[in-house]
Amino acid sequence: MDDFERVLVVDFGAQYAQLIARRVRELDVHSEIVPRTMTADEVAASDPIGIILSGGPASVHAEDAYRLDPEILELGVPVLGICYGHQVIAESLGGRVSRTETAEYGRTVINVAEPGVVLADVPDGDQVWMSHRDSVTEVPEGFRPTASSPGAAVAAMEDAGRRIYGVQFHPEVVHTLHGEDVLRRFLRDGCDAKGDWTNLSIIDSQVERIRQRVGDATVICALSGGVDSSVAAALVHRAIGDQLVCIFVDHGLLRKGEVEEVERTFGDSFDMRLITVDATERFLDGLGGVTEPEEKRKKIGEMFIRVFEDTVAEVGDARFLVQGTLYPDVIESGTDDAATIKSHHNVGGLPEDLRFELIEPLRDLFKDEVRAVGAELGLPDAIVWRHPFPGPGLAVRIIGDVTAERLDTLREADAIVRAELTTAGLDREIWQAFAVLPTIRTVGVQGDGRTYAHPLIVRAVSSEDAMTADWFRIPYDVLERISNRVINEVDGINRVAYDITSKPPGTIEWE
Ligand code: XMP
Repeated sequence: MDDFERVLVVDFGAQYAQLIARRVRELDVHSEIVPRTMTADEVAASDPIGIILSGGPASVHAEDAYRLDPEILELGVPVLGICYGHQVIAESLGGRVSRTETAEYGRTVINVAEPGVVLADVPDGDQVWMSHRDSVTEVPEGFRPTASSPGAAVAAMEDAGRRIYGVQFHPEVVHTLHGEDVLRRFLRDGCDAKGDWTNLSIIDSQVERIRQRVGDATVICALSGGVDSSVAAALVHRAIGDQLVCIFVDHGLLRKGEVEEVERTFGDSFDMRLITVDATERFLDGLGGVTEPEEKRKKIGEMFIRVFEDTVAEVGDARFLVQGTLYPDVIESGTDDAATIKSHHNVGGLPEDLRFELIEPLRDLFKDEVRAVGAELGLPDAIVWRHPFPGPGLAVRIIGDVTAERLDTLREADAIVRAELTTAGLDREIWQAFAVLPTIRTVGVQGDGRTYAHPLIVRAVSSEDAMTADWFRIPYDVLERISNRVINEVDGINRVAYDITSKPPGTIEWE
């Protein structure tokens, strides 16, 4: 993103690097995560206004400890070291880092001796979050200690002349009460940041780039109704209007009201060129008799591609394809092999032999930024805050045969589950919530009669990134309403069960 001031976040292997990068952006400064192997020349070439060294799991004394090209500290670019990064600065510039008697993990209190630049808004005796065993015990020449804690003689230090700062605690986590102020002071006073990374400027810059790149060519977008493809489409539409053609494949495996919502939002409100392909029959036929989960997924993926290709052929001369790739996908690509547990079918992940040039307008954005940009572009909350939904849709939530009748049953039940959670105000706490229809039947009694019908399984999880998840504690009264309504209103269901499995060992979806 050459149009913006940028701060580089050097990743020392911490789970915190992404969090730091997000916090910096929340303060309206663009940040990029870069590998710890980056050289001083590479840093200089990227011309950042500041550098933040993240925390990391290792000891600076370990033989294979992560190092930093020491010349990075000579570039004259302001630097903030956090935790391990703080120790790397001390070690590289001639201070001392020692293993202390007591490790310091969790909340602690710091004494701010002389606030200097980055601690200017941190009161003496304030709560911070620490996670370290080694400590800086002697500051390098030119530095002065600015704070201490029970477990860290030098909890913070700075060399205001060289604009190099270090904090042993983690300003990026919420348990450090004035953490945001530390980062803000570093950016505003340490780096003289203007703060040009805002939703509006992100949109303006992308619109300009897309226009320049596309010229008068036609651009295709596979719209799924999910957050990423929706925001990507809205952004590209803002840039090139009717040169964008959105293709929405209705495979008949969508949730209640979804097709209508996509058509209303994109076709009516945004007035986009939207082609909705009703492929329900084709998918139902293709899925006939398929019960094995992987086979289901593969079949759906293949059919989706075929339908998409046919539709693209009708559009004719498209040169570009929009993809909703996000920044975390970019950072993690190549290192993530967890996805092989299930063959994921991404509506945006289309075959290479379509030979389009890709437009990825969200490539630099975190999910929360994508949502903010979507809202700014005028997308409704229902889309901006939509829970993730798998490409193969309800088919992986119907165990066994996928038939029109079973789809109807699940669609009705699923709509009740989600509506009750929405009414209870739980949508934003829950990562994903849905219903699953198994093949088994159980005996019940309703009115005067015996029933022999299917149970419905309710699933709701909380998660940060879907790699791990915890089952969500839905309040009993909400579960009760869900159960009553589903059994009374949905034919063919006589029992409701709640799935209390976390991931691992379970996965979020049932197939
Ligand atoms: P699992 O079931 O593997 O799901 O724990 C993790 C997350 O991925 C979603 N999911 C998919 N998303 N195409 C997608 O775009 C797929 O084929 C697919 N399968 C699972 C799932 O809903 C959860 O959010």
